[in-house]
Amino acid sequence: MTTIIEARNITKTFGQEKNQTVALNNVSIAIKANEFVSVMGPSGSGKSTLLFALGGMDTLDEGCVYINGVSLYEMDDNRVADFRRKNMGFVFQNPTMLPSLDILDNIMLPSFEDYKNDKSALTQKAQNLMKLAGIEGTENRKITEVSGGQLQRASICRAVLHGPEILFGDEPTGALNSKSSEEILDLFEELNKNGMTILLVTHDAKVSARANRVIFMKDGALESELYFENEDHQTRLVLINQKMSDLGI
Ligand SMILES: Nc1ncnc2c1ncn2[C@@H]1O[C@H](COP(=O)(O)OP(=O)(O)OP(=O)(O)O)[C@@H](O)[C@H]1O
Ligand SMILES: [Mg+2]
Repeated sequence: MTTIIEARNITKTFGQEKNQTVALNNVSIAIKANEFVSVMGPSGSGKSTLLFALGGMDTLDEGCVYINGVSLYEMDDNRVADFRRKNMGFVFQNPTMLPSLDILDNIMLPSFEDYKNDKSALTQKAQNLMKLAGIEGTENRKITEVSGGQLQRASICRAVLHGPEILFGDEPTGALNSKSSEEILDLFEELNKNGMTILLVTHDAKVSARANRVIFMKDGALESELYFENEDHQTRLVLINQKMSDLGI
């Protein structure tokens, strides 16, 4: 498998002098194409900062990040935004969608530019994706007329409609009940089976149990990791919970 994301010696600090926080301390990591990786660690250990750094959403103090061998932090801002838009999708804990548009238009909005001459192809693609996500039938509803889990699934559809290779998520199931959360996880698994590389930050062992690799962070550094292949769900949970309790999560 080829490496799709590579970070070399990245360091990120916030604040000045006495108030300085080292959010990432000389972190290096390589993620292979089609991996499903989850990132865990205590609050403040640098998980979100790592995700943002790998997604080109922040500046770094030191180090570099390569996506498919392309150096993210050497591009100018316009190019990085364009590169990000083409290659990456992002989902967060609380999806933000426009209340003036229905679900389908919200999903299609970021991709309109790419399909401006063929809106029907885009609509078809969006509807296929909504079916895969189990939210067909909600196309013409307002964002206030669907459940939290359906809205999150719609936001995942929006994040992947343009066909990015990598999906980043920061606590994407954090605001959901366990049934909705399982549905989101099924969707991630399906996208991963279809070739997408997934990197999720989570506090939830059940989320991490779906990943092939769980990275544990502590104090801005990678502390350890677990790799899963054929372990059953229960075994994975035991291993993850053990690690979480060692780290005091
Ligand atoms: N914009 C910022 N300004 C100042 N400090 C920040 C900023 N963003 C993050 N930090 C600090 O950097 C460290 C790492 O933060 P980060 O958000 O990456 O943690 P996290 O592991 O995602 O935590 P959580 O589980 O609570 O989301 C923390 O000490 C945090 O207070
Ligand atoms: Mg965070």
